[in-house]
Amino acid sequence: MANIIEVRDLVKIYDKEVHAVNGINFDVREGEVFGFLGPNGAGKSTTISMITTLLRPTSGTITLAGLNVVKEATQVRKLIGLVPQDLTADDELSGRENMQLQADLYNVPRDIEKQRIEELLSTVKLVDAAERKVETYSGGMRKRLELVEGLIHRPKVLFLDEPTLGLDVQTREIIWEYIRKMKEESGMTIFLTTHYLEEADSLCDRIAIIDEGVIKVIGTPAELKASLGGDMIKVTVNGGEDYSSVMSSIPNVLDVKHDGSEYKLKTRDGDATMKDVLAKVAENGWKVSAISLHRPSMNQVFLEYTGKSLKDDLRSLSANKAAARQTALQNRRRR
Ligand SMILES: Nc1ncnc2c1ncn2[C@@H]1O[C@H](COP(=O)(O)OP(=O)(O)OP(=O)(O)O)[C@@H](O)[C@H]1O
Ligand SMILES: [Mg+2]
Repeated sequence: MANIIEVRDLVKIYDKEVHAVNGINFDVREGEVFGFLGPNGAGKSTTISMITTLLRPTSGTITLAGLNVVKEATQVRKLIGLVPQDLTADDELSGRENMQLQADLYNVPRDIEKQRIEELLSTVKLVDAAERKVETYSGGMRKRLELVEGLIHRPKVLFLDEPTLGLDVQTREIIWEYIRKMKEESGMTIFLTTHYLEEADSLCDRIAIIDEGVIKVIGTPAELKASLGGDMIKVTVNGGEDYSSVMSSIPNVLDVKHDGSEYKLKTRDGDATMKDVLAKVAENGWKVSAISLHRPSMNQVFLEYTGKSLKDDLRSLSANKAAARQTALQNRRRR
């Protein structure tokens, strides 16, 4: 697959001292869902702002569809859609008016504008609420509106910065489903950041993990998990004998450790080895009191490469977001 985005030696230093992005290199392939993961302050939004022409890099180059993002910014803007992390919809306007504003911004011809807005509102189930002011929307409705605002001009590449942050499980699922559908039906390239690692795991073709402005690792979710050493089966066999050598002889098993009656088998293929172990159990009449399969999760991958867990991050981000929304609303009312 051809690269649609190429980032080379990209650096962003704010106010001469904050090294937000420290010389990163990566490619995004045409048509893929590319996940950009990292803890708070890692440099994700800064990178997105630079790729989407909103922020000038301190140094380094970015090309998008062969265009230089700094020198050919106007052309780049026509090819991309952005759903930023911060609030963007105008509270005082209705959902439909927000969409119309966005359509004007991107010079969507009037004759196709109406139908496209209708289509987009309907896919995110906002037709009934379309004439209401956005300030009456719930957080999930608002996020759904902001998502389709970024799609009004049918971009080639869509940037989603935390598209599901702070939403309930159901709304998150609707948004992820919609992203999947867009990728399949339109072949759109999607670049997203998220703090929900399991969702990134199931949605992304490839994932980059960034921390303190540096990319730690890039690969498919399967590659990242495999880099942690693959699957493990734990089995407890009672009977006093040492079964290590039998277990070592099972195909795909890389290593066997045991502590009393509990055996830990490292394997290249957890499912296959599970079947083989069960077959051995039946064949030899072993008395097994417990057996389980352990697969590295995206959470473990994240922890391994950043030394950080995302649980606290998620809580503080949602709280910040709620506070920011509250302040924005109050400011508006005061005016
Ligand atoms: N306008 C700015 N001026 C100065 N420093 C900034 C500015 N924007 C971001 N930073 C700093 O740059 C670093 C990277 O911030 P960035 O917003 O890119 O992180 P992020 O990965 O998107 O984090 P989050 O998960 O919290 O959204 C942080 O240390 C942040 O404080
Ligand atoms: Mg951010």
